Amino acid sequence: MLNDIQETLFTQEEIQEKVAHLGSLISQDYREKDLLLVNVLKGGVIFLADLIRHIEIPIAIDFMAISSYGPSSETFGTVKLVKDLEESVSDKDVLVVEDIIDMGLTLSYLLRNLETRNPKSLKVCTLLDKSVRRIPDIAIHYKGFDVPDVFVVGYGLDYEQRYRNLPFIGILKKEVYYPEE
Ligand code: IMP
Ligand code: MG
Repeated sequence: MLNDIQETLFTQEEIQEKVAHLGSLISQDYREKDLLLVNVLKGGVIFLADLIRHIEIPIAIDFMAISSYGPSSETFGTVKLVKDLEESVSDKDVLVVEDIIDMGLTLSYLLRNLETRNPKSLKVCTLLDKSVRRIPDIAIHYKGFDVPDVFVVGYGLDYEQRYRNLPFIGILKKEVYYPEE
């Protein structure tokens, strides 16, 4: 698994420090609010699990699954709701927690969908922001790191379901997804 990584982009320590910082910002901003963290499966679960342990106010969590990527690292440009929330978001302060925002199609679909359910507020927290490829204009309220246009894995992020368990974030070697080159 480690042989497939070209270089480490963010170490375990750097990630933990950033996640703690985001958790304390969120704790301050959502004091006295009814915070529901909506997590996007599966990539976002590792980030969510660490993030909520740095949030010092009462919260609820819920999950959605959306698929915009096929089996390869290239998008098909289609977004599909694979699993819906169990909780109602109406009158809640909703914070969407994402692992990475790339082109933004997934998130833009999700935000439009959540907006129709009348949350009191709707904001976005992402660990990674790959903004070079962004298509729709999306406001990101909490952001961990900017990433260049490279394919990253680890800390929840996968390539064909692999590498999610790496404790750091690294760039995947190109030959892993373009074996013929
Ligand atoms: P978007 O609709 O292009 O923003 O797609 C975002 C989704 O694509 C993320 O939630 C990831 O599942 C996946 N994705 C985008 N870039 C990467 C990457 O560099 N590594 C792993 N997954 C990625
Ligand atoms: Mg994802």
